[in-house]
Amino acid sequence: MDELEHFEGAATIEKVASLCRRRGFVFPTSDIYGGLGSSFDFGHYGVLLAQNIKSEWQRSMIQERDDMVALDSAVILNPQVWVASGHVEGFSDPMVDCRTCKLRFRADHIGTSACGKKPSKHPGEHSECDLTEPRHFNLMFETHVGALRDDASVAYLRPETAQGIFVNFKNVTSSLRVKPPFGIAQIGKSFRNEITPGNFLFRVREFEQMEMEFFVPPADADEWHRYWIEQRVNWHTGLGVRPSHLRVRAHEADELSHYSSATSDIEYLFPIGWQELEGVANRGDYDLRQHSEASGTTLEWIGHEERYVPYVIEPALGVGRAFLTFLCDAYDEEVVAERPRTLLRLHPRIAPVKVAVLPLVGKDTALVERARPLYEELRRSMSAEYDDAAAIGKRYRRQDEIGTPWALTIDEQTLADGTITLRDRDTLQQERIPLDGARRLLLDKLEQPWHPRL
Ligand code: GAP
Repeated sequence: MDELEHFEGAATIEKVASLCRRRGFVFPTSDIYGGLGSSFDFGHYGVLLAQNIKSEWQRSMIQERDDMVALDSAVILNPQVWVASGHVEGFSDPMVDCRTCKLRFRADHIGTSACGKKPSKHPGEHSECDLTEPRHFNLMFETHVGALRDDASVAYLRPETAQGIFVNFKNVTSSLRVKPPFGIAQIGKSFRNEITPGNFLFRVREFEQMEMEFFVPPADADEWHRYWIEQRVNWHTGLGVRPSHLRVRAHEADELSHYSSATSDIEYLFPIGWQELEGVANRGDYDLRQHSEASGTTLEWIGHEERYVPYVIEPALGVGRAFLTFLCDAYDEEVVAERPRTLLRLHPRIAPVKVAVLPLVGKDTALVERARPLYEELRRSMSAEYDDAAAIGKRYRRQDEIGTPWALTIDEQTLADGTITLRDRDTLQQERIPLDGARRLLLDKLEQPWHPRL
C-alpha cells in the first residue's frame, strides 16, 4: 500500500474542536476563569462517546475473551512503586530554557517549536536567543499524602495505569483462575505534566488510559507481540477507522522507553500528520523483576512443573486520543440540495445517540402521541433522543452533526397504516418500516458490520 502523505477528508483539529464545543461534546476546563492550558471537560455527547469507546474496548478485551480479567487500581500508589518502576529516575523529557524570553522547550522538539521573540524562527535562531543546556524535567505530578508536607509525604499521581497492574500480579494470580498466557485490563485516569501539550485532546495533562498487560512465557513473547499489534489494528478498523489512515511503526532503539525491549506504535494519519495513536510494547520481565526486588515479594508464575517470571505485552491507548481519532475520521462536510451539511460518520456502536425520534410536525398532537411511546420503548434498549422543536430539516442536520446514524419520523401516513420513515445518516436514504418492528430492526442493525464511506 502506498503511504498517504496527507489526511484525506474535511477534518482539521480546529473544525473538530469547534464542533465539539458547539454541540456539547467537549469544553475547555474552568472556562469562565480563562481555562487551564490543555485541560478539557466532557459534555453530554462527549461522555456518551467516550463511554462507548471504553465499552467497546472492554467488550473486545474482557467480555469476548476467556484469558483476561479486569482491575481498577488506585491513582495514588505507594511512592516506592515509582522508584522501582524507574519513573522517578527516568520518566522525564530533556528541556531547554531561553533566558531571554523565559520560555521552555522540549530539546527534541526545537525544530518544530517557535521562538518567543520571533515566532517565524525556531528557538536558538534569533540573535537574542540565549538557550540553556538540556536539563531533565520529570513529568510526574507530585502531591503529599497526610497532614505533613515534607519529603516523607511525597506521592505521585500515576503517569500510567500499568504499574497498578504489576503490583497486583500476586493478588490476581492467587485469587482468580488465571494462568499464562493471560491478561489484566484496566481503564483509568493518568496524569503527566506535559511540557508541550496541545492539538486539542491529542496531548493533555490529565487523560484516561485503556491499558492491558498480557503475561506470557518468555519464549512466546515475540509471537504474542505480533498477535496484539494485529488485534489492536483490527479493533480500530472494526470501529470504522479507515485502514489507509493507520500504519504500524516499530520504534528505533533510541526511542524505546526505559522498560521496553520492543515497541510498535499504531499511528493514525491525523490532520496534523502521522502520530502515535496506541503503543504496543514488549516490556519483557522488567516490571515484575523490578517490583520483586524492591518489595521483597517474589512476582513469578509457579505452575506444576514450571516457575518463571512472565514477559509482558502491553497495548496502551488513550481514551481521548481514540476519541479524537474517531472524530477526525468521521467528520465530513457536503452539499445536499444546495445546502451544506456537516456530519459525523461515526460507527453506529460508538455514536453517542443511536436514534432520533421526530414527529414530522411538532405541534400535531396525534403525531406526538404516536412518537412519544416509540421513543420511550427505544430508550430502554439504546441511547435515543426525542425532538419536536424546529423544522424537520433543521432537526435532521442537528442529529447529523452529533453523528446519530438513524432518525425515525412519524407522519400522517403513520396514523393511516402504522409505518414510519427510517432515515440513514450516511446515505440519506429513507424507507418506510412498520413502527412496531422498529426496535428489533435497529438492534439487528447495531450488530451488523458497518463500513465507512471509503
Ligand atoms: N503504559 C505505557 C504507556 O503509558 P505511552 O505510549 O506513554 O505508554 C500510551 O502511553 C497511550 O496513552 C498513548 O499511545 C496515547 O494514546 C495515550 N497518551 C499518552 N500520553 C498522553 C497525553 N499526554 N495525552 C493524551 N493521551 C496520551
